[in-house]
Order: sequence, then structure tokens, then C-alpha cells
Amino acid sequence: MNRHLLSAADLTRDDALRVLDTAEELAQLSNRPIKKLPTLRGRTVVNLFFEDSTRTRISFEAAAKRLSADVINFSAKGSSVSKGESLKDTALTLEAMGADAVVVRHGSSGAPHRLAYSGWIRGSVLNAGDGTHEHPTQALLDAYTMRRHLGGSLDGRRITIVGDVLHSRVARSNVLLLATLGAEVSLVAPPTLLPVGVDGWPCEYTYDLDSALSKSDAVMMLRVQRERMKAAYFPSAREYSRRYGLDARRFGLLPEHAIVMHPGPMNRGMEIAAEVADSDRSVIVEQVTNGVSVRMAVLYLLLGGREPMEEGA
Ligand code: NCD
Repeated sequence: MNRHLLSAADLTRDDALRVLDTAEELAQLSNRPIKKLPTLRGRTVVNLFFEDSTRTRISFEAAAKRLSADVINFSAKGSSVSKGESLKDTALTLEAMGADAVVVRHGSSGAPHRLAYSGWIRGSVLNAGDGTHEHPTQALLDAYTMRRHLGGSLDGRRITIVGDVLHSRVARSNVLLLATLGAEVSLVAPPTLLPVGVDGWPCEYTYDLDSALSKSDAVMMLRVQRERMKAAYFPSAREYSRRYGLDARRFGLLPEHAIVMHPGPMNRGMEIAAEVADSDRSVIVEQVTNGVSVRMAVLYLLLGGREPMEEGA
């Protein structure tokens, strides 16, 4: 595997399967009374968050701690970034503190690449979401969740991703990773919320949600990302919800075995009805649980992969 994880496209099929299999092994740990391994003892993981986050930040923190790493949490709010400090000077500060891995979330697409290849820091860089570009660990935890529910392999499985694809780093990383894993992906979105260049993505797209749902093994609803919208992309929230929301009627179009996913945070009542989000076919809370095992696997493989995964080492 590469030293950094910046894009889902960095992962070969073997790499991705190794992460998912390792995550499965590590998940067993959560059933033990002491949920900790010594694997990354003495290593320092910095969570560098320039954008708001609940799940991803907590998840990386839990993952690093369960592997016994020292964790430093940095959020731009309340730091010298608000005094105008640059990404470079922030990075040099982290390097001076001996960061072995930097988990970065940034509003600008490409910021993690800049960190990884600038020479400012020597450790591994993990992209925890950059602008509207990528979020590779989210795609890995989504694939992990699908594998658990859809019977092991994703080859030939039909996954439908619905909503604000234009602003979604989750969608792009999922399309890339799912294609690597052999799944067939369909995007459904209003034409205004599909990115230019989507024709070159390894997936199909359609504007007809009802017919896509009846053929899906999993449906992933995306949040309407109003904070990234600088124009009106649809007439009204009501209209969006009517055309592209997963309500109880549409939920009924899914095959019996299909699962409902959402990366969170959800706009309940907009892209997904509350009763669907809380139904027994929804795996939204489980996605969060799985995120910890998957991020442990990524940290383990990037930082400590050669050491035995055992207690008492
Ligand atoms: C996503 C993100 O931040 O890209 N959330 C997440 O990481 N779980 C999706 C979103 O914000 O809608």
C-alpha cells in the first residue's frame, strides 16, 4: 500500500480487500472487555480538522486510541489558523511535534495532496475529506458495511447513490472504490447536481429514482450540502424531496434484501424520511460503528502493518 491514503483511486483491489479483511479482524476487538491493542504504542496521530466534523473526527480518534497511539486533536477553530496561519506553518508545527500520521479534513479540494507531497511533513497523510473531492475512508467503511450485508463480495452488486453528487466527496470516493471492487454503481441526481465530467466516471447515471431503486442491492442517500451551494440548484426543498427523497413509498420499491445507507449528517425529511432512516433495513448507525474498525485497519496498515496484531507485544 501507498504511504498515504489520499484518494480511493490509490487503492488497488488487493489493497482495498486487505483493508476490509483487516477491519473485520479488528472488529472482533470491540466484543472484548478491553478494546485496545498495543500496535501503535509510541506513535503520534494528529487529527487536523479545518472543517466541522462529528463522526469522522471521533472515529479516527477512537481508532488511533484503540491501537494505543498518542492522539493530538487540532481543529482550526480556536487555533492560530484564525490568526491567519498558513497550512504550511501549521504543517511545520505538527512535524516539529513528531507526527507519524496526519489525518486531515480541509474545505479545499487537494489540501491533503499538498500536505503529502510538499515535503513539509514526513509522516503518512490520510484524507478525511477535502472539499468536494474525496473521502476515501468513508468509501471503505461503506464497502465494509455493504460486504457484511450483501454476502461477502461486491462483484456485480448494484449500488445506487442518490442526491447532491456535485458537492459530495463521499460519492466520488464510493464510485472509485466500488468500481475497483467490481460493483455496478448508478448515480441518481437532478441534472444540476451532477458534476461536469461525470461521463468519465466508472458508473452510470439517471434522473429516474424509482426505476433505479427496484434494481438496487444498496441505496446510499447523500446529504444536500447547502453550505457548499452558491446558487439555487433546485426550486425548493419540497420539490427536491418529492423528486429525489427516499420516502416510505419509494422505500417499498427496494428489493427485500436491499439496505439503506447515509454517511451522515442527515437532513431528515429532505433526502430521507425519518421512518426510513430509522427502519430495520437502515444501516446508518452501523456505518458509524464500522468506521472505527476500518480506520483502525487503515492506520494499522499505513503505520504498523509489519508488526503482529496481538496483545501484549
Ligand atoms: C460527509 C462529509 O463530511 O463529507 N460526512 C461524513 O464524513 N460522515 C458527508 C456530508 O457532510 O454530507
